[in-house]
Amino acid sequence: MNNAFLKSFCTLQQIYRERAFSAIALNKTLSDCKKQDKALITKIVYGVLDNDIKLEYVISRKVKKFPKGDTLLYLKIGAYCLMELSIPVYAVVNDVAELSKLSGDRRTVGFVNATLKAVAADAKNFDDYPKEETERLSVQYSYPLWAVKKLVKDYGLQTATQIVQFHSDHKTTVRFVRPLTTQQVAQRFDEAEPTLFEDAFAVKGNVPPYSDDCTQQSLASMAIARICAALTPNEGSFLDCCAAPGGKSVYFKQLKPLSEVTSCDLHAHRVELIQSYARRMNVSLKTVCRDMTLPFEEWTEKFDAVLCDVPCSGFGVLDSRPDIKLFRENKDISELMKLQYAILSNCSDFVKKGGSLVYSTCTLFDNENGQNVRKFLKEHDDFTYGEISLPQLKEANGKQSYQFLPHKDGMQGFFVAVLTRKK
Ligand SMILES: C[S@@+](CC[C@H](N)C(=O)[O-])C[C@H]1O[C@@H](n2cnc3c(N)ncnc32)[C@H](O)[C@@H]1O
Repeated sequence: MNNAFLKSFCTLQQIYRERAFSAIALNKTLSDCKKQDKALITKIVYGVLDNDIKLEYVISRKVKKFPKGDTLLYLKIGAYCLMELSIPVYAVVNDVAELSKLSGDRRTVGFVNATLKAVAADAKNFDDYPKEETERLSVQYSYPLWAVKKLVKDYGLQTATQIVQFHSDHKTTVRFVRPLTTQQVAQRFDEAEPTLFEDAFAVKGNVPPYSDDCTQQSLASMAIARICAALTPNEGSFLDCCAAPGGKSVYFKQLKPLSEVTSCDLHAHRVELIQSYARRMNVSLKTVCRDMTLPFEEWTEKFDAVLCDVPCSGFGVLDSRPDIKLFRENKDISELMKLQYAILSNCSDFVKKGGSLVYSTCTLFDNENGQNVRKFLKEHDDFTYGEISLPQLKEANGKQSYQFLPHKDGMQGFFVAVLTRKK
């Protein structure tokens, strides 16, 4: 049996059935497989998740009765390899049919074999997409229809199309604690390229999450930490309300070593993540486990700057979390908006007069972003818009709020708004 197909199947089973996090399930698989299989398994797992809607649609055009469960998963793996990879057709059809023998059912094997042959017929030039434009975008670029409709409403058809079409080149950003040249970085990682931040490089290859002098961190996450740092006096106080696993808190402290940083999260196990990350990066933070929707008198008007990097639908980080497209539903958005607003509104009490409140998400929808901020300002007349300071990105610099867009800004799709408490 083809080992890469088998390992990909088992990993995807965990993600579809048990809703395991894609990165965690995949890393576990890769830690225990042959070196030569790793690249193909990674491609298949992320490729199937990323193309899920399209693969289901293509399969639906080739069968009389739509399959379920493992049979559907065999077909998704086969259809993905036929449509997107350059593995010979006979190898894909034979190996996936062989894989489907795990079902112990001869009819399933025959069905998988016949369906994949039908998919193979126009796999490289399939164009039988829905005629209606939003449905076509949803299927062709495997983006949930409700999310496409939201993007069209928020951005217009042209930008929505660019957003759903965009595919990242899957480079990892590595941030260094001490300054290094591109040549020095290239000696340690493949394809090192400078980024808009002098301390970060885009690299390819096998990148450890962190080591003594560097850590993986997305440019957008760095941008938010830099925006907060620019708003805080050198020896000022900074509260990160939703801080786990600690990416922004730790970077903030490195940018402002004399400041006092308090990092909170709702869950004790996630507070431990902040602590261990801070220890590894040799940074000292105060960590607190708290529900930040609840008042806390001790902190009233205590901090120079407060960051609410709230839980969100995550449509700005699909490059690293393609499973979000599978499991997130439109009905989740209104619940998220309530939580986001409750955190923002409650934590605004902790900002000093004249201090700054930063609201950020890693998503693209106005409901969770601008709408929450506009509502907040309407209901809190002691706050007004402040100004983003991010000289490296002129489109954002000086604005009150900014939506980072992957196809335009070359970084993940975060949103940020800066608010100021009136004196
Ligand atoms: C987007 S993540 C934060 C990422 C983090 N700022 C970083 O840069 O590493 C949102 C975090 O909010 C936390 N959270 C959710 N509800 C919360 C609440 N009511 N109070 C505090 N934290 C909460 C989640 O546990 C999660 O860790």
